[in-house]
Amino acid sequence: MGAAGIGDPDFPSDGNGGYDVTHYSLKLAYTPSSKHLAGVASISATALHDLARFNLDLSGLHVASVTLDGAPAQFTREGSELMISPAAQLAKGAKFTVRVAYSGTPKPVRGSSNLGTYGFIPTSDGAFVVCEPNGAKTWFPANDHPADKATFDFELTVPKGLTALANGELVAGPVTTDGKTTFIWRERHPMVTYLATMTLGDFALRTGTTPRGLANLAAVAPKYNNQLDRVFRLSGRITDYWSTVFGPYPFSSTGGVVDDLNTGYALENQTKPMYGGFIPDESIIAHELAHQWFGDSVSIKRWNDLWLNEGFATYAEWLWAEHNRTITAEQVFRGRMSMTSSPIWNYPPGKARPDDLFNESVYTRGAMTLHALRQRIGDATFFKVLRTWAQNHAYGHATTDDFITLAERLSGRQLDSLFDVWLYKRGRPEWPERPRRQT
Ligand code: ARG
Ligand code: ZN
Repeated sequence: MGAAGIGDPDFPSDGNGGYDVTHYSLKLAYTPSSKHLAGVASISATALHDLARFNLDLSGLHVASVTLDGAPAQFTREGSELMISPAAQLAKGAKFTVRVAYSGTPKPVRGSSNLGTYGFIPTSDGAFVVCEPNGAKTWFPANDHPADKATFDFELTVPKGLTALANGELVAGPVTTDGKTTFIWRERHPMVTYLATMTLGDFALRTGTTPRGLANLAAVAPKYNNQLDRVFRLSGRITDYWSTVFGPYPFSSTGGVVDDLNTGYALENQTKPMYGGFIPDESIIAHELAHQWFGDSVSIKRWNDLWLNEGFATYAEWLWAEHNRTITAEQVFRGRMSMTSSPIWNYPPGKARPDDLFNESVYTRGAMTLHALRQRIGDATFFKVLRTWAQNHAYGHATTDDFITLAERLSGRQLDSLFDVWLYKRGRPEWPERPRRQT
């Protein structure tokens, strides 16, 4: 039997055990006026051990039928778990495709603590779909945890006049028949479920390339019409700059989407960062685009390593400012260091807490950790560490221990105590560091 969780102790029911998804094919139609979503998800996976039963994550929505390799399969629902019993047991190593036909009104997750509302969020003219950390299950059956990445196809049908945006590139459409328009998108690089999107609504689009020739797409809701060219240009310019700092851009297109929303929310959706309810400044565009390397291509296995995403993307904001000669990363670091009574000193960022995942410390103290490392090992080695990290773990997963090991290997130094005080200990680290005894 496949476990009901993938094994993240902080989020015990997220994801599922027993199989590995290789591909999601989502064929979905959404009608904003009725908030009705209907369609079929075909999920291709490999059994990791013999399976008489396995789960997918799905919250709400009505499941009409489930088939496994074309044969009807029994299923039951319990909370956010969809439990599937194939007619015959799946053998370890078997490749299978489970097809789920479903419909209903997606309900966004109203997160506890600092998580806000996320998942499939209806807007006045469509939906803004941003799912970190575990909101993919609000609109498709998924192995909803970053430890399982897969490629995605999307066939999205919306009322004529609206645009449906998903990850990757538009491979067909838009085609309009009977007042409905279908968009076919494909993300051929592995992606974690929380980065999948089907944001839709009334959008103005600009497509083209970045100065270095990468496909680029900007989309803005009517309210942000005057931002279309700016978002297109900045997203292109910043993506190109990061590719000189972090190494080759990992995906086949970049871009940015600005939607109208009641609250402010940004997410680094793979290939298409999304900004909801505000005009993104350069700093946040730099942040979300840096995530394409750190978080999207190199992904975490467990949520408590979140600083590997947020600390890196926040440090990228400082690097972008440094690049523009606004302020150096060193100056930002010193400014943060001078806040002697900041709450970040009481929250070690190396273990993001499930009840306070997106704590400011994970972002800021995470970024400070990288700056402390840069100070210790020097610019040349530091940027080599970032590039090697992005390259070695591209399209895969990595942990904090992997990062420490890499930094030690490339610098030839023992860095345990540096990472220990910055990531794992309460209290403000001493800075500048006390001179260490040479051995
Ligand atoms: N990763 C996003 C960022 O870079 C934050 C997402 C926060 N998630 C949430 N459910 N509030 O800013
Ligand atoms: Zn971020």
